[in-house]
Amino acid sequence: MAAKKLCEAYSKSLIDEVHRWGCLKQTGVSLKYMMEFGSRPSERNLLISAQFLHKELPIRIARRAIELENLPYGLSEKPAVLKVRDWYLDSFRDVRAFPEIKDTVDERDFTQMIKAVKVRHNNVVPMMALGVQQLKKDMKQKVVCEDLDEIHQFLDRFYMSRIGIRMLIGQHVELHNPNPPPHCVGYIHTRMSPVEVARNASEDARAICLREYGSAPDINIYGDPSFTFPYVPTHLHLMVFELVKNSLRAVQERFMDSDKVSPPVRIIVADGIEDVTIKVSDEGGGIPRSGLPKIFTYLYSTAKNPLDENSDLGTADNVTMAGYGYGLPISRLYAQYFGGDLQIISMEGYGTDAYLHLSRLGDSQEPLS
Ligand SMILES: Nc1ncnc2c1ncn2[C@@H]1O[C@H](COP(=O)(O)OP(=O)(O)OP(=O)(O)O)[C@@H](O)[C@H]1O
Ligand SMILES: [Mg+2]
Repeated sequence: MAAKKLCEAYSKSLIDEVHRWGCLKQTGVSLKYMMEFGSRPSERNLLISAQFLHKELPIRIARRAIELENLPYGLSEKPAVLKVRDWYLDSFRDVRAFPEIKDTVDERDFTQMIKAVKVRHNNVVPMMALGVQQLKKDMKQKVVCEDLDEIHQFLDRFYMSRIGIRMLIGQHVELHNPNPPPHCVGYIHTRMSPVEVARNASEDARAICLREYGSAPDINIYGDPSFTFPYVPTHLHLMVFELVKNSLRAVQERFMDSDKVSPPVRIIVADGIEDVTIKVSDEGGGIPRSGLPKIFTYLYSTAKNPLDENSDLGTADNVTMAGYGYGLPISRLYAQYFGGDLQIISMEGYGTDAYLHLSRLGDSQEPLS
């Protein structure tokens, strides 16, 4: 079913409410706070957490719904974007329709409801990518990548907000687990070994490379496996996975037809006082300097785009080596979400170094806009 115009599908009072809530101030939390708060998942704390989300989620969701309505170049009218907007409006309505949370019974019901909200939004990234793709197709050569700055900035805000919303919901839901794995506070692992996570992520990336090319360069990891710090392993896994996938592809493409042995991808994990830094280093030929400003945009990829309008989004999480142009910008957002960053340094004709900085202190507030 085609997505409808706003006024046909939603009542005016709901739209007014969205606009009211979209103006309220968002409240950020830090990794440290989530960890300290979640380490005592008493009924009382779960109640406080649910009450916080009951107020905070509609604010964050409303902001995104409003932005989705006002995108430049007609992006807001693309069917895929309308669908995403409807998910946001449905979720806003669900959370707002939930009555005041007074006791544990309410809290349990609320948790089930926000769990369903999280599931509803599972496919937001490929669906938005499809919308942007539709726009790109319409515009053909009319507008060059740099002119789409406004769209890139919107997507950065939008995906960053999504990371935050999913972290908050996921964290709350996980705190209900009666038997959490050792050292886990919701999504946070208080003794995460970056070397171990990097190893798992590299193995996953390497398996995809093997599947796609029939062979894969080696990956060497340097660092102390017993070193740990508190972080979210799923986030780190995603970031290292994306970086290693890029490196493997570059090396593979460069050495595939040569009789030389592929040089290994090297991962170095350094534990500083402020940051834990993970460097992913390859000899895949680097990135031309003219391409560097584009690598963090959502429209730039040198791979063939596997996403077209006929593709079934239900199977869109079928991972491939490359093609969306989302790996780097999304990974950088995950890094920045907890106060870190991602930098790419390239030597054209030789290779690329990606520096992933993770803040060790965990006290920076979520970046909200
Ligand atoms: N290590 C690297 N060596 C050479 N080029 C790279 C490297 N990492 C990234 N690039 C270039 O930057 C582009 C963007 O990378 P990004 O990971 O964001 O998207 P992608 O790999 O094309 O698609 P995907 O969304 O599947 O990751 C790549 O298409 C590639 O041209
Ligand atoms: Mg990639």
